[in-house]
Amino acid sequence: MIPAVDHAALAPWQVRRLQPGDVPAVMAIEREIYPFPWTDGNFTDSLIAGYDAWALIADGVLIGYSVVMWIPDEVHLLNLSIAAGWQGQGIGRRLLGWLCDSTARRGARAMLLEVRPSNDRARRLYESCGFATVGVRKRYYPSFNETREDALVMRRMLNLESAAEPASPGDEPS
Ligand SMILES: CC(C)(COP(=O)(O)OP(=O)(O)OC[C@H]1O[C@@H](n2cnc3c(N)ncnc32)[C@H](O)[C@@H]1OP(=O)(O)O)[C@@H](O)C(=O)NCCC(=O)NCCS
Repeated sequence: MIPAVDHAALAPWQVRRLQPGDVPAVMAIEREIYPFPWTDGNFTDSLIAGYDAWALIADGVLIGYSVVMWIPDEVHLLNLSIAAGWQGQGIGRRLLGWLCDSTARRGARAMLLEVRPSNDRARRLYESCGFATVGVRKRYYPSFNETREDALVMRRMLNLESAAEPASPGDEPS
């Protein structure tokens, strides 16, 4: 039996599946926090493709989101974002921890991601959560003045010992 997703594990925030109707709110955050944001088509295509996409909610307001692709017994973290006004309060760390726990419960053996070498905040978060650099994708990201920036490929093994409390019986199946 596939374990349930623990939607309450991020209290006082809630996590729920990202819906097509969330894309405008997501895009408002995306444009604010990234110099080279995803497009609304990237999010819509992710939802159509059935990727794991999650909205993080505080008092009914969307304050963060993530997109995860299964490949198939590993997961690729494609997007992890916290709204500008909510950054630096430990929320990104909690959301990443929840993603690691919930995907491990559902059978993922490892999580993979790309990050810009210039993104110190994200790199520190990933390193302190156990991710190690395993490669470089040359000229992966767009950058300023029509240049390109490399991507660091980071990976972390997932195991159930790192998972939090068992999911509540009433939680929605994954
Ligand atoms: C990266 C991001 C998801 C982290 O979420 P967050 O809620 O801001 O981060 P947290 O408050 O949980 O802090 C996590 C760690 O990030 C690092 N960090 C946080 N603020 C930082 C700052 N101002 N400078 C450097 N590192 C910082 C620290 O290592 C911190 O851990 P610590 O507080 O235990 O030392 C968020 O800042 C964000 O959405 N940034 C813009 C989008 C982005 O870059 N996404 C990642 C793409 S790969």
